[in-house]
Amino acid sequence: MAILTPSAAAIAEAGRHLRAGGLVGVPTETVYGLAGDATSDRAVAHIFDLKGRPRFNPLIVHVETLAAAERLAIFDRGARFLAQRRWPGPLTLILPRRAEAPISLLATAGLDTVAIRVPDHPVALQLIAAAGRPLAIPSANPSGAVSPTTAAHVETGFGGRLAMVLDGGACPVGVESTVLDLTGPRPRLLRPGGASLDQLVAAIGEIDVPTDDPARPRAPGQLASHYAPSLPVILDPPAPLPGMALLAFGDKERAAGWAEIVNLSPTGDLRAAAAELFAALRDLDDPARFSAIGVESVPDQGLGLAINDRLRRAAAPRGDGR
Ligand code: TXA
Ligand code: MG
Repeated sequence: MAILTPSAAAIAEAGRHLRAGGLVGVPTETVYGLAGDATSDRAVAHIFDLKGRPRFNPLIVHVETLAAAERLAIFDRGARFLAQRRWPGPLTLILPRRAEAPISLLATAGLDTVAIRVPDHPVALQLIAAAGRPLAIPSANPSGAVSPTTAAHVETGFGGRLAMVLDGGACPVGVESTVLDLTGPRPRLLRPGGASLDQLVAAIGEIDVPTDDPARPRAPGQLASHYAPSLPVILDPPAPLPGMALLAFGDKERAAGWAEIVNLSPTGDLRAAAAELFAALRDLDDPARFSAIGVESVPDQGLGLAINDRLRRAAAPRGDGR
């Protein structure tokens, strides 16, 4: 895999690669994404294959502007109001898909809705411009694994199976976008993420926050086990098991005996913790050094909702019984 500094020449080359149906790793403000031409069935099929992603789990279409988004989806006044205030940014809106939208039906998994966002990252925006078309961009990790926040993480996930990744350094937000469904009678939160729920409620009023029922995922992709390292993950363990590392948060008394403690933010800063979360989980996922990873939950406010969601899913029972 070529890890490219995102010069004008590299972005132009990546744009040509996308127009020819290829895939490109790209930084966004949330996590690194695996970009492909959203209008091409072939490119979108390649994304699903490379990630090993179930085809019923639709992709987010990334565009450069609200005007471009309005060509693909139907915005009512509320949706437009929110988009004007929160885009570019870590907010994905689920909206009715326009019948004439030139988006691959595979990208939206055959649904009559489409997930759209305008990312707040210069490299992602330049890449969309260079491609000259909407891009389908899921997180650049094999399906079910921890999301990448550096170009090196993308390399670890896909290696030689992906031609190029644009290296924009570490992603500033560190957790994926908030997914908000605006197609029902009331706005519904499908995935807590980088845009805080409080800010969204302040902008548009009440938002339904469905409780998690692992048997009935809210979004097609919100399966219980996700973001899973290879080691077992235990949420809020009362005491260390032998060889257990701890992903900690804040300044508090802790039992002795942890094999290692990595603190996401000793001062209790949720933004800093979100930015470090996935890299820290990856670092601790080392079976040669540890037997398991304990994770401390964080306050359920602001970015803490997204962090706790990812920690719960990392710790959820996995299909293979681990
Ligand atoms: O921050 C992000 O959103 C990153 C960066 C790369 O932009 N992308 C990302 O994509 O997280 P992905 O594919 O890993 O997650 C997309 C989520 C999934 O949970 C999927 O089920 C949901 O969005 N989704 C996509 N289209 C949907 C739709 N039409 N209705 C409901 N949920 C949808
Ligand atoms: Mg993902």
